[in-house]
Amino acid sequence: MDTTGTFLLPPSASTMAGETDALFYFLYYLSIFFFILITGGVVVFAIKFRRKKGDISTTKGPSHNTVLETAWIVVPLILVMIIFVWGFKGFMKQSVVPKDAMEIKVTAQKWFWSFSYPDGTSTANELVVPAGKPIKLLMSSQDVIHSFFVPSFRLKRDVLPNRYTVTWFEALRPGDNILFCAEYCGTKHSEMLGKIKVVSDREFKEWLDTNANAGADMNPADYGAKLYTSRGCVTCHSVDGSTGNGPSFLGVFGHEVALKGGTTIVADENYIRESILNPQSKVVAGFQPIMPTYQGLLKDRDVDALVAYIKSLGEK
Ligand code: CUA
Repeated sequence: MDTTGTFLLPPSASTMAGETDALFYFLYYLSIFFFILITGGVVVFAIKFRRKKGDISTTKGPSHNTVLETAWIVVPLILVMIIFVWGFKGFMKQSVVPKDAMEIKVTAQKWFWSFSYPDGTSTANELVVPAGKPIKLLMSSQDVIHSFFVPSFRLKRDVLPNRYTVTWFEALRPGDNILFCAEYCGTKHSEMLGKIKVVSDREFKEWLDTNANAGADMNPADYGAKLYTSRGCVTCHSVDGSTGNGPSFLGVFGHEVALKGGTTIVADENYIRESILNPQSKVVAGFQPIMPTYQGLLKDRDVDALVAYIKSLGEK
């Protein structure tokens, strides 16, 4: 199995990769063959039939050559039909999700990925899946167009607002795979990275179990600090007082905050909760209303933990 990749292609880590690469290399070597044939012909003929010194005679060209013309029509026709059928088969395989696939909901938003599992577990920027099992991805965007791109799986699919797109993959073996956003989606497009962590079936079940009880053994503020990074808050909100796309969390709790429209509010538990679940309702003055809602993406316990974390930063 190819775990290192080649000069042209990244490692192949999904069941689709081998087929995709075979077609790629077919096109690649076909192109090289015709490149040499055509440019070689140009060079050879240019030398062979060049005008010689003192020779001013011209020859009458042939009107046509049936054999030659048939050959240059039929041979490319056969070649492009091979490419078409080959590509179409791969496209169908990629488009039709196997019946027994596990469905995971993918949500893209500026500028991170979130994943929801059938049992309610959700993660951000890290998709954990078992090896050797087909995984169906049901994808949508909260804002602009993003694109779910995993080079080692040879998988790329646009993620759109107001519409679902579907794709699937089956990972070959445990290991980490990089997930990129492949559609320019704003300032931090290049930082919209994720990881697809492929584990064994047993490890996956264990992971789901521990995730169902995540945070149960931590104090809420520590768990909140963990969520702050893992759920993507860190993308826009600093904890050192510096201004990002959103206000810093440092020293905000319990203090008065100026809102867009000239009013003020005290940043208490309810305001923070509202800002997480319904971020457009009371936007802090000087910031754009760009924060997506976390409604449905965070459990109550997660919201409590984030509130506790922000609280701990406010009491400094
Ligand atoms: Cu999301 Cu680029």
